[in-house]
Amino acid sequence: MKSKIAEKFRTLFGKDGEFFASAGRINLIGEHTDYNGGFVFPGAVDKGIIAEIMLNGTDKVCAYSIDIDEYVEFGLNEEDAPTQSWARYIFGVCRETVKRGGKIGGFNTVFAGDVPIGAGMSSSAALESTFAFALNYLFNLKIDKFELARIGQATEHNYCGVKCGIMDQFASIFGKKGNLIRLDCKTMEYKYFPFNPEGYRLVLLDSVVKHELASSAYNKRRESCERVTAAIRKNHPEVEYLRDAKREWLNEVKADITDEDCKRAEYVIEEVQRVLDVCDALERGDYETVGQKMYETHYGMSKLYEVSCEELDFLNNVAKECGVTGSRVMGGGFGGCTINLVKDEIYDSFIEKAKASFKEKFGHEPKVYEVVISDGARKLD
Ligand code: GLA
Repeated sequence: MKSKIAEKFRTLFGKDGEFFASAGRINLIGEHTDYNGGFVFPGAVDKGIIAEIMLNGTDKVCAYSIDIDEYVEFGLNEEDAPTQSWARYIFGVCRETVKRGGKIGGFNTVFAGDVPIGAGMSSSAALESTFAFALNYLFNLKIDKFELARIGQATEHNYCGVKCGIMDQFASIFGKKGNLIRLDCKTMEYKYFPFNPEGYRLVLLDSVVKHELASSAYNKRRESCERVTAAIRKNHPEVEYLRDAKREWLNEVKADITDEDCKRAEYVIEEVQRVLDVCDALERGDYETVGQKMYETHYGMSKLYEVSCEELDFLNNVAKECGVTGSRVMGGGFGGCTINLVKDEIYDSFIEKAKASFKEKFGHEPKVYEVVISDGARKLD
């Protein structure tokens, strides 16, 4: 990938720039908890974005995406926003950096990636983090890593229409080889957990479906949570996020909220606790509990939060039938992947069964990605 980028960069710009990279992510457990101030448990993966960048001394960005095979130029002011969605991510990162007082100028860039798009592995966070990290480095801005993650998140909010939480950008910036990271999204305290489950493998099965309107459905889930939080806060003013609410407090406001909002909140309150339970179980080496919690999350995401879909429920069922230790839909939902914790001895038969039965039902095989937990944003030599 790097040599392909370098070749294109020379052809386009006649010089060599510097290389930066960042990663997509997995999340073992803790879904839709981040914007509720709860816990998440992600890690960066060995699939990501690589960009070659060189400052060009102008106030223009000249960017080429190898994967889309498209060249775009844009200025750094608000009215210069490009229309191409891939370029909006880079533009958004520039704008959010400027909003934070970062003095930046134009640059030339060529980039490529291998995070499957729409798989729920945060290809967009990988792109944002690569550029946030690179601008910080190249312009010597001294922005701290948390703020770099927030630059990516704000890009989603203000330039891409997704009111996402901080998990993806955090994992993409803070990712460390061989480690998952438990993050408290309220306090931003985090802890690395070495993850090397002996006798097990983590594998993603990508349904290769992406349902339309995923981002508006995502934003609606967030609004549900905010409504319930506001209702609970009337009785318990200390509740800043849904994460702060006790299960009983939800019951107190049942009459004031819709059944749908109530189900959404029930899922979130349970999910926040599940992350803590999984971290405890991991420290004991108790993978059976880890797996059981993953199944519980799937159930909640499917029946209460309603962000699963037929294809993902199917993959989850196959996992259950094959005796897979844990399986659930990963990421925002509405398509994408399941993440599966599988014992070595049944790995091959599970993958074979999942591929064959999925193909029989949906006409194509799911894609299979073995998870390798890797480093996040960095400069390459
Ligand atoms: C998407 C968002 C994240 C998070 C997950 C669900 O990936 O970008 O902030 O909310 O969905 O856990």
